[in-house]
Amino acid sequence: MSDLTEYSGKATMEKITSLAKRRGFVFQSSEIYGGQSGAWDYGPLGIELKNRIAGTWWNEMTRLHDNIAGLDASILMHPRTWEASGHVENFTDPLVDCKKCKSRFRADMIPEENLAAKKCPDCGGELTDTRKFNLMFKSHIGPAEDTASVIYLRPETAQGIYVNYKNIIQSNRMKIPFGIAQIGKAFRNEIVTKNFIFRTCEFEQMEMQFFVKPGTDEEWFNEWRSQRWMYYEKLGVKMDHLRWHQHGADELAHYAKDAYDIQYLFPMGWRELEGVHNRADYDLGRHAQFSGKDMQYIDQDAGNERYIPYIIETSAGLTRNVLMILCDAYDEELVAEKGSVTSEGSADDWRTVLRFHPNLAPITVAILPLMKKDGLAEMAQDIRKELQDDYATDYDQSGAIGRRYRRQDEAGTPFCVTVDYQSKEDRTVTLRFRDSMEQVRVPRAELAAKLKQEIKKYKRVK
Ligand code: GAP
Repeated sequence: MSDLTEYSGKATMEKITSLAKRRGFVFQSSEIYGGQSGAWDYGPLGIELKNRIAGTWWNEMTRLHDNIAGLDASILMHPRTWEASGHVENFTDPLVDCKKCKSRFRADMIPEENLAAKKCPDCGGELTDTRKFNLMFKSHIGPAEDTASVIYLRPETAQGIYVNYKNIIQSNRMKIPFGIAQIGKAFRNEIVTKNFIFRTCEFEQMEMQFFVKPGTDEEWFNEWRSQRWMYYEKLGVKMDHLRWHQHGADELAHYAKDAYDIQYLFPMGWRELEGVHNRADYDLGRHAQFSGKDMQYIDQDAGNERYIPYIIETSAGLTRNVLMILCDAYDEELVAEKGSVTSEGSADDWRTVLRFHPNLAPITVAILPLMKKDGLAEMAQDIRKELQDDYATDYDQSGAIGRRYRRQDEAGTPFCVTVDYQSKEDRTVTLRFRDSMEQVRVPRAELAAKLKQEIKKYKRVK
């Protein structure tokens, strides 16, 4: 368990937001119209990073388990789903408004003394009574805007899994215990969206629902807590920036028997990254009741014993994981400390570097010809073509080489390959490592194998 109380890294939310825009990770939605709050667009590097995080999670949760199947359910679901799930009734946050400055607050996020005195924390004006605000986005399907056409954008991906659980048992001959994994968009009309992509109205989740026999749920709950912790270890994030938080009785969601969050130490403090929940038989029991369908599992290996399975859920935010990985990777350092003043810049030159694991980096290797002329660009392009099938590559021939390295550091590219005049003579290239800034000469013919080996043995040192 981490004993860190405060964030002491180099990142701030301002620096992360600004780097994300400058380098094309994340842009504000509809920026030319002044921006749409609670919504963000993923640029060329951002979509690559997001896809790699999603791919890593997907492999971990499906490919490495022969009893977990995948699903991609639709965002729009029958409205009865949300009555059965309890979201129509219970998915609310407490809301207060300031009568004077018209600011809106989540009542549980303002100081208790302000709430008690009904005093606005911003302007001192009078606050309204607290009322419940349902976070689901409501719309209408079809041309008529009446109660019969009400439809919701899903606030969690989980329900798409529950309503399909029998389809998956039948089509894939699944036997308990088994899981169903899904990655997809979810929408919540959050009262307060802040901290960049941490809490947004449109976001993505990576959820896995594991169906177990009642009575074995606590054992599986502990097993999945341990597996999810190990996942972040494998991802190579700073483990002293992670900790567990068990939900108290007042925090438990309406469906949860027990719940733990994995929290990450973001620049703004410890915040939830992922939840592991014991949802017991709440969801399947409610869907049985509301749909009239039999949601029991028939255990053919145990004399056709019938029961409603219990569900252990692991629920991570994909977009929140993107923010976590950006903050975790962010570093600034004085270049001169590395003793490479000549090729990397002057003594007071600082660099910003994203120390992504090579498996997550949007660009794995950048190929840089020292000069555009004398056949160096052509040789560099050939090398790029050779590596393109196996790695995400970039090609950059503009500007001083030191400045090009800096650009790649900011993009988090772990390896740069520089083609120079010596390359023409002896068919070697320079391989430059992002983290240490060390440079080694590698025969061109051995480059692909060398990269493979370096990625496999990668260990973050800082
Ligand atoms: N199916 C259970 C569920 O949705 P949750 O704790 O409400 O549980 C799970 O959400 C995860 O989804 C959170 O740990 C967080 O990573 C992510 N998440 C939730 N609300 C979010 C929001 N408004 N913006 C970004 N990510 C969010």
